[in-house]
Amino acid sequence: MLGAWLASLSACSDSGVQVDPASLPVENRRFHELDEFVADYWLRPVPLQGGAPEGFSSLEASLQPATCGTCHAQQYEDWKTTIHSGAFSPGLAGQLVNWEGYNYETVRSCLACHAPLSEQSAQVPDTSGALVPNPVFDASLQQNGLVCAACHVRGWQRYGPPRRDGSLTAAPPGSPHGGAVRTAYFEDSRFCSGCHQFEFPAPNGKSLQNTFEEWEASRYAEKGLGCQSCHMPDRRHLWRGVHDSLMVAGGVTIDWVTGSAPSVALRVTNSGTGHRFPTYVTPEVIVGIELLDADRRVIESSAIESAIRRVVESRSGIWVELSDTRLAPDSSLILAARVEEPRARFARGTVVVYPDAFYQRMFAGMVAGSLSDTSAALISEAYRRASESAFTIFDDTIRIGS
Ligand code: HEC
Ligand code: HEC
Ligand code: HEC
Ligand code: HEC
Ligand code: HEC
Repeated sequence: MLGAWLASLSACSDSGVQVDPASLPVENRRFHELDEFVADYWLRPVPLQGGAPEGFSSLEASLQPATCGTCHAQQYEDWKTTIHSGAFSPGLAGQLVNWEGYNYETVRSCLACHAPLSEQSAQVPDTSGALVPNPVFDASLQQNGLVCAACHVRGWQRYGPPRRDGSLTAAPPGSPHGGAVRTAYFEDSRFCSGCHQFEFPAPNGKSLQNTFEEWEASRYAEKGLGCQSCHMPDRRHLWRGVHDSLMVAGGVTIDWVTGSAPSVALRVTNSGTGHRFPTYVTPEVIVGIELLDADRRVIESSAIESAIRRVVESRSGIWVELSDTRLAPDSSLILAARVEEPRARFARGTVVVYPDAFYQRMFAGMVAGSLSDTSAALISEAYRRASESAFTIFDDTIRIGS
């Protein structure tokens, strides 16, 4: 997230050098216990898979999502529509191109979450830790962002959740890719936390991405309702979030409250979002009320609004929090308008979501700066997308007074 906040200066070695795949370290091992998973499964970048096991067909020995999709059609059809599959986005790629030539360490730090397989990285460390050209780099796999194999494959072994009946029964002999190791870890919120919870920076004691901690403090954690229960209902690979109007509308309750007259108030409650609404520093939600006359014309200067968001700013590399009005689970924002205007007959309330408010400003700033042609084209596309993602989840007019 947030782009250029990481700065690392290590130089990388010459490209053009031929590297023998067998000379590269493959640190994958097998995981069977839950505790081992928590510690090591999410080493990122995910270590090279190494040579495919003997007897694997070309279908089984492919890391491409479309190949998984030949047998797992439902997951592939879902995944294609998601932000995870689009994680190698123009906004990311437009920044990476600037560092590719001289600072691949930084590129890799971003790929760790956006395209985490080592096979998605143009350079990998050799046994001494120096970055060398990756002989098994697959540029089209990189374009596919957060791929199936990043979550499910280590050293060619498939890992997945328990069977739907809760059992861990092994696959029948001869099953494709030797079946899968099944573990409850896939149903656990910690599975998602490596990429959705930052350790630092933490302005005002709260990490810039604090989703796991927010969830842990909520009633959902107490009831055992993890990230998957809302973001992967019935195990669907959908991961809808702040960019999806139905998902957002389902996470909040919006109603008019009749305060002590003469006033009218709109209440937004985080009634079904398992963390703060919204959880990140990048979206903004604007709640507004305006008064209308008997002909439903807007009465000038009657509009008031309030923003639900967390505002942070980097000052010479130090992140500071300027405000935080996000809604913790079960808390509300009440926006009240005093109705002293004699012409007022109606009140109109709106709630508008800007999923990419921060990025829209950031990309606008980058486009205005000096960028290479390749970077400028990608960042302009990212700016266009960020400017077009807003939507309205509430727009209602009520009669007030007599
Ligand atoms: C710990 C995981 C993680 C790392 C590391 C990471 N990101 Fe992200 N990034 C995310 C998540 C999660 C989001 C979506 C939430 C958000 O917008 O904050 C995101 C969103 C973005 C976006 C906005 C959405 C889009 O794709 O246009 C950009 C741009 C971006 N990241 C660039 C980068 C860059 C550049 C780096 C490296 C300097 C980086 N990220 C490192 C997790 C990560
Ligand atoms: C971000 C990580 C992630 C990605 C990417 C991902 N999965 Fe999954 N997958 C999971 C998790 C987590 C579960 C278990 C969900 C649960 O138990 O609620 C799962 C479950 C599954 C299952 C078992 C489904 C069932 O009904 O029992 C299959 C099969 C599967 N994934 C295949 C795929 C394929 C194929 C892709 C790519 C097209 C993919 N996954 C991409 C995390 C991921
Ligand atoms: C040739 C068909 C085929 C291909 C290609 C394939 N799978 Fe599978 N996969 C299967 C079958 C069949 C099972 C069920 C085995 C069992 O009963 O335990 C399975 C099981 C799984 C499981 C365990 C969960 C479940 O649904 O039983 C996961 C996770 C999984 N595959 C992921 C993947 C991923 C990721 C890829 C691509 C990198 C992939 N598979 C490619 C056929 C395939
Ligand atoms: C390997 C890192 C990684 C893992 C593991 C991961 N995610 Fe993500 N996720 C990302 C990145 C990166 C993005 C943002 C991509 C972008 O916008 O460019 C993202 C985006 C999302 C979004 C979309 C948010 C929006 O803006 O609408 C949701 C929801 C989400 N992830 C949920 C989950 C859940 C639930 C899990 C666990 C099953 C999970 N993720 C596991 C990296 C990860
Ligand atoms: C009780 C349901 C529920 C649970 C549990 C839940 N979420 Fe969400 N999540 C939502 C809803 C609804 C939204 C859309 C509203 C919003 O953006 O906050 C959302 C939005 C998101 C987003 C979009 C970014 C943003 O700023 O909101 C991400 C990323 C995300 N969730 C990740 C997670 C992760 C990771 C977990 C587990 C630690 C989790 N969620 C647990 C319901 C849930």
